[in-house]
Amino acid sequence: MQYFAEKIILSNKNLLDCIVIPMFEKYKFSKILKKINDISNNYILNILKKNNIQGKINQHIILYKIPNFSCNKIIIIGCGNKDTLNREKNKLIINNVINILKKYSIKEIYWYLTDIKIDNYELYWNIRDTINIIEHNIYSFNKFKKSKNFFSSIIKFIITNNNENIYFSAIKHGNAINLGIKKAKNIANLPPNICTPKYLSIKTKKLIKQYNNISVEIINEKIMQKIGMNAYLAVSKGSQNKPYISIIKYQNDNKSQPIVLVGKGVTFDSGGISLKPSKNMEDMKYDMCGAAAIYGTIHAIAQLKLPLNIIAILACGENMPSSNAYRPSDVIETMSGITVEIINTDAEGRLILCDILTYIEKYNPKYVIDIATLTGACVIALGNNISGLMANNKKLSKKIIRASLEADDRVWELPINDQKYFHQLKSNIADLVNSSNGVAGAITAACFLSKFTKKYKWAHIDIAGTAWYYPNNKAMASGRPINMLCQFLINQTNHK
Ligand code: BES
Ligand code: MG
Ligand code: ZN
Repeated sequence: MQYFAEKIILSNKNLLDCIVIPMFEKYKFSKILKKINDISNNYILNILKKNNIQGKINQHIILYKIPNFSCNKIIIIGCGNKDTLNREKNKLIINNVINILKKYSIKEIYWYLTDIKIDNYELYWNIRDTINIIEHNIYSFNKFKKSKNFFSSIIKFIITNNNENIYFSAIKHGNAINLGIKKAKNIANLPPNICTPKYLSIKTKKLIKQYNNISVEIINEKIMQKIGMNAYLAVSKGSQNKPYISIIKYQNDNKSQPIVLVGKGVTFDSGGISLKPSKNMEDMKYDMCGAAAIYGTIHAIAQLKLPLNIIAILACGENMPSSNAYRPSDVIETMSGITVEIINTDAEGRLILCDILTYIEKYNPKYVIDIATLTGACVIALGNNISGLMANNKKLSKKIIRASLEADDRVWELPINDQKYFHQLKSNIADLVNSSNGVAGAITAACFLSKFTKKYKWAHIDIAGTAWYYPNNKAMASGRPINMLCQFLINQTNHK
């Protein structure tokens, strides 16, 4: 979609094709609707009453040829009770509008919905939300389909006050973030026979040509062996597809400490020798959604040219069973020197991440945030709408929570500092076990990682429940938590 912000003067002179206007319950008219109703001598009110359209959220009416008003069609969209409008209801409203646009193939629309007040959120957020909801609605993954369905049109937000700068900045941010989300969805939805660790390294290298300030370094198996990333290497031992780490450096200056972002990129998680049951195993192609989110975030911040130094790492590998595979009961010495007894080869994410978390110490990071589809337990704890947040620094977790509330890409903090969980990670023969096989699985996984993050401020986001969703009962990548992550980074630069 293309988004513009325009000031227009409604008159019976310049002919518009289509406008969409909000209407609240009990015939409460927005300013603009009142104006058109007046111009048309109550034509609008009469026709709404005749059709019993009261302004409820699922209601709408399309009017053609309004007396004294030059517009081909007006979509009046029910917005419910003005005082209880919130972001969830706004989603329903906007999706209603988009479904109408699709149904009638409307190619250009003047949009009067952005200045309605939603909770306590400013206009800026209404615009950002609108773009997110629309882009989410129209996304489709057509790569492997004979018939490619695709909808696009021009949306013109109407500027009603002297606040065009808010429109321009929200559109700029919304466009960049949604480009990132789309890029992430497009790689996450690929099947694992195409989207291998190597494929992701090639895709990542292409970023150098697309943007300034970006360089890419690839770490292959040989280098990993040399520097002792034994935990990382163990995970891919059973797979024909070799592991690759892609390091994207987005650098604006030589002084400031970088923010390091790490994404779990397991392109297929069969569980390995601790094989997963076959029900829903196909979803485990999404075990690289953390890496996809990091990749998408880099697109967004490079588009926005944010004045930050960022190091973004896609930690990729594939977890498969074979006679070469690592086994339950193996003991591995991690890059940090900490030894780990493998109890369950399906707890592979933390093994990949722990060596990366050691590797990045050399960057002297300001903050480290890892994004991972790490535990089924996180889905049990928080469900499919809220990601898990665990951190070793209160200030950092507060910033992440703030960004998640602003962007409506929610996280909820779970405890890790609490010494009461560490006993679950004790081994009789090594320093740690990789799987506690017990309660509080999301927290114990983070506790495991926290053993490797002592040297910097670190947050871990478990997106096992939020990285994909099931429209029409079939899985699709969600692009989360790119919106939150980008907001966190935008907030770091202190300007909108
Ligand atoms: N990739 C999975 C986590 C996962 C499960 C994400 C379901 C999304 C949906 C991860 O590698 C895994 O298998 N974790 C195990 C850990 C356990 C063996 C301690 C799990 O959650 O069952
Ligand atoms: Mg696993
Ligand atoms: Zn996994």
